[in-house]
Amino acid sequence: MCGIIAAATDRSVGKLLIKGLYKMEYRGYDSAGIAMHVEGDVAHLRTLGKVNLLEDKMKSEKPKGKVGIAHTRWATHGEPSEINAHPHQSNDRVFIVHNGIIENYLDLKNELTTQGYTFYSKTDSELIAHLLDHFLKTNDSLLKAMQSLKNKLEGAYAIAALDQKDPDNLVLARNRSPLVIGLGKKENFAASDPLALAELTKKFLIMEDGDVARISSNQVEIYDEQDKLTNREELSIDVNAEASSKGNFRHYMEKEIFEQPGAILNTLDGRIGGEDVLDNIFGEGSSDLLAKVKRVQIVACGTALHAGRVAANWFSAISGLPTQMDYASEYRYKNPYIDEDTLLIAISQSGETADTLAALRYAKEKDYLATLGICNTPTSSLAREADYLLLTNAGQEIGVASTKCFTTQLVALMLLTLALAKASGKNPRLRGRIIEALRTLPEKISDALKLKSDIVDFAPEIANKDNALFLGRGIFYPIAKEGALKLKEISYIHAEAYPAGELKHGPLALIDEEMPVVAIAPEYELAEKLASNLEEVKARGGALYVFGNAKEKLDLSTGRYISMPECDFLLTPILYSIPLQILSYEVALLRGTDIDQPRNLAKSVTVE
Ligand code: AGP
Repeated sequence: MCGIIAAATDRSVGKLLIKGLYKMEYRGYDSAGIAMHVEGDVAHLRTLGKVNLLEDKMKSEKPKGKVGIAHTRWATHGEPSEINAHPHQSNDRVFIVHNGIIENYLDLKNELTTQGYTFYSKTDSELIAHLLDHFLKTNDSLLKAMQSLKNKLEGAYAIAALDQKDPDNLVLARNRSPLVIGLGKKENFAASDPLALAELTKKFLIMEDGDVARISSNQVEIYDEQDKLTNREELSIDVNAEASSKGNFRHYMEKEIFEQPGAILNTLDGRIGGEDVLDNIFGEGSSDLLAKVKRVQIVACGTALHAGRVAANWFSAISGLPTQMDYASEYRYKNPYIDEDTLLIAISQSGETADTLAALRYAKEKDYLATLGICNTPTSSLAREADYLLLTNAGQEIGVASTKCFTTQLVALMLLTLALAKASGKNPRLRGRIIEALRTLPEKISDALKLKSDIVDFAPEIANKDNALFLGRGIFYPIAKEGALKLKEISYIHAEAYPAGELKHGPLALIDEEMPVVAIAPEYELAEKLASNLEEVKARGGALYVFGNAKEKLDLSTGRYISMPECDFLLTPILYSIPLQILSYEVALLRGTDIDQPRNLAKSVTVE
């Protein structure tokens, strides 16, 4: 999704802005641009495509300035093109970058067209530049113009703007789209993603909805929703600069897959002790709260919802609680069942997914017992707005395809399962067993990572196919879904997942020699039934790739069998995610796709 970086400094700003844009590349984008004050004028450069093209343009045009704004755009309104790229400008005076969506843009555009403004782009963002220009006719500063503007805009926005007539200041505005201010020595910054400022500062102010701010190299002023000068708490955030390097790995995704043993250790750190989960790990008073929970409602999107689907099995089997799950994008529109004994859980690695946030905000207005967030981004809206919170502490995830954030979400959800069971006195021995298994999980994950060479062996067989099926039963069905999602998003192979028992109700018609079928088949109560389902595939010539630990139970004269490390059954969904991630990665590598930034996708989906 779109990324904003802005800076008012005492030094040359161009390189700094370009560096920040590179750091936000992982979010997914299609064009980039910069506007900066240069000796009474504004240099305005935009390119379709990657940041390196913008950098080339900067090198050839050599604009010199100290105050500027920059942007990476992920198209929503209007196709990817240079003309639709940000910054947008009005009358060569006002330049803006914008993240979010202006919902009343058509009405505003019509008003502005009547007033004589010409629109060059197809975006909803350009009107922000024209409206600011319009308000500057009756206001003496960009700050005041921005305060007038926010009363007109409906929707989500993070905006950074500059006025050609005011070379020292930048003006910012935020509503439902993240924007932070970074504090430096004789320089101040703003960004939609703290990672963009990783090497510049550790001191941040998080803007709140309705805030407008003015920053120069030596001053920061923030005005609240009522336009009153206000203070926002200064936070120290160590945005790990290492996260922005791939080390010896070919892609961030590969690095993040291999970081999982350490990431899981971090999720567990300080949360378990002796034979149980520690009290109040979801925030003060959370253990008392959890004792009152009678039902659970989960909202999330994509991979995060798959984690929720696994957890629903755990909540029922270990904590004795029924769970309702919904795509966050659907939940608000289905008249959800709500009562005061239900805990609403929102899961999101970014904590900025618009649908998940909208669901959380909807839930907060309703009569739920409380809301609880599982999130990897401490500065995110979700982390700040949920009543209770567990941070997964996986470290920054850059690859669009979620890997370590998924497995750490599962670990966090298992901690929640245990905390719910503990709060109601359920299953003390089982809890002890799972705690023990969690302690050894990072080692088991390291063992599963060693399967890479086996997977590399057969990845070419899948890489030259157009479709793939993933099968799993029970608690492994969500893992099959996650395997299929991973494969399709980075290799662009069409992949679907089914509970294996459903095959004969339709999908079996698709099976022939051209259909690879990936099955998750550990030794458990459904193993034999799954074996029969795999026979149905074999009989129709489908190529089987089976991950399991009971080969003797399967008649696999054809197909591949990958022997998985042993692990406590209740944690096997976490373990079995690992080879499926490696498989997608290796297949995508062979197909030569843009693995870290797959086409059309974004890391943090901040539009509904
Ligand atoms: C994961 O591989 C996907 N890119 C995507 O499904 C993602 O999980 C989803 O957009 C939710 O993101 P979140 O965890 O940041 O809310």
